[in-house]
Amino acid sequence: MDFDLSEEQKLIRQTARDFATRELEPDAGKREREHIFPKDLLKKMADLGLMGVNVEEKWGGVGAGVVAYSLAMMEISRACASTAVTMAVTNMVAEIICKFGTPEQIQEHVPKLTSGEYIAGAFALTEPSCGSDATALKTTAKKTADGWILNGTKQFITSGSYSGVNITWARTGGPGSKGISAFLVPGDTPGMTIGPEEHKMGLMGSNTVSLIFEDARLAADTLLGEEGRGFPIAMVALDGGRIGVSSQAIGIAQAALDAAVEYARERQTFGKPLAEHQAIQWMIADCATELDASKLLTLRAARLKEQGRPFTREASMAKLYSTEAANRICAHAFQIHGGYGYTKDYPIERLVRDCRVTTIYEGTSEIQRMVIARFLLGD
Ligand code: CAA
Repeated sequence: MDFDLSEEQKLIRQTARDFATRELEPDAGKREREHIFPKDLLKKMADLGLMGVNVEEKWGGVGAGVVAYSLAMMEISRACASTAVTMAVTNMVAEIICKFGTPEQIQEHVPKLTSGEYIAGAFALTEPSCGSDATALKTTAKKTADGWILNGTKQFITSGSYSGVNITWARTGGPGSKGISAFLVPGDTPGMTIGPEEHKMGLMGSNTVSLIFEDARLAADTLLGEEGRGFPIAMVALDGGRIGVSSQAIGIAQAALDAAVEYARERQTFGKPLAEHQAIQWMIADCATELDASKLLTLRAARLKEQGRPFTREASMAKLYSTEAANRICAHAFQIHGGYGYTKDYPIERLVRDCRVTTIYEGTSEIQRMVIARFLLGD
């Protein structure tokens, strides 16, 4: 594997790093405490190309590929994990429309996602009674003479209040995966209402709501891909999304490790800095090693996807390892901060909370293990 980055990849990483340091990091804590969704910052990110890193230039993206996207996600997440999850889902939605949409659908939505005309895109698969077991979804789409009528509820939808387009999965046929279709649901669809914001443990600067469909009418041309073939679209999206969440976890863990190193150098105990105690050195060494392993797994998955090679197993391995490791790294960094870490005066408590969901959304660790094991053992 070639570990050298291209000039373009370095440029995207540097652009994301500069923006994150200058614009996101200073007020990340305030946005989180006050539950501020960063509309203006997201527009600036779109202007920098960060809402379509792996989207072709003709659709308003920068076409820099999956490795560049992963690197950009790490940088944005290091500064503000809430903004990063919004970025991740918008990139994923734009990519999936490019991959499965008709030329008209791509033209209609993708330039608006990449340019920031749509504040965000959303991915509406999960329902109140099904998350991991995604083929059990109950939302229905009934065919009419001129389109579709949607009924049901989607839950935990990232950016649902701000999304210009929601890729929404609904049942158009019998039970199981073959009865599921995907739709491009505009954010202002009559009959779709947005539920109240979830009171989350972390990522409070991101928006998480339910979407309720009550006889919501969709035009015929909102069907994404073929009728009854929506479930594989969700799986393809999640394969790529898992590289995004893995990158997000790495960014959060990097911030936690950097904070722990800084604190360990400053804080004196027993007549010397924490950094001179072996117990602390070992924790920091373990964190740095796990972080590097996470980066290697993630960039491997990103490179395979970029090369058009199979990457499902590798994306699941990257997500499983990086998100579990990031939680361990945050826990060590938190421990190193001692009592101060438990206060809001230091960012580490936010990082611990923001990190927690990464082992859950876009497929729990248990789902990743299921996917990986299937490659070894079969269904
Ligand atoms: N790529 C392409 N197609 C795939 C695929 C993949 N990686 N994985 C499965 N498929 C296809 C299969 O080939 C099969 O196709 P056919 O109909 O042609 O046979 C179909 O999908 C069904 O596959 P399975 O029989 O394997 O389905 P399953 O019921 O056993 O489920 C699963 C597989 C991996 C458990 C899947 O349900 C899954 O990933 N669940 C987790 C869902 C998830 O990650 N939810 C997160 C929600 S989104 C979120 O959190 C977003 C956010 O806002 C941050």
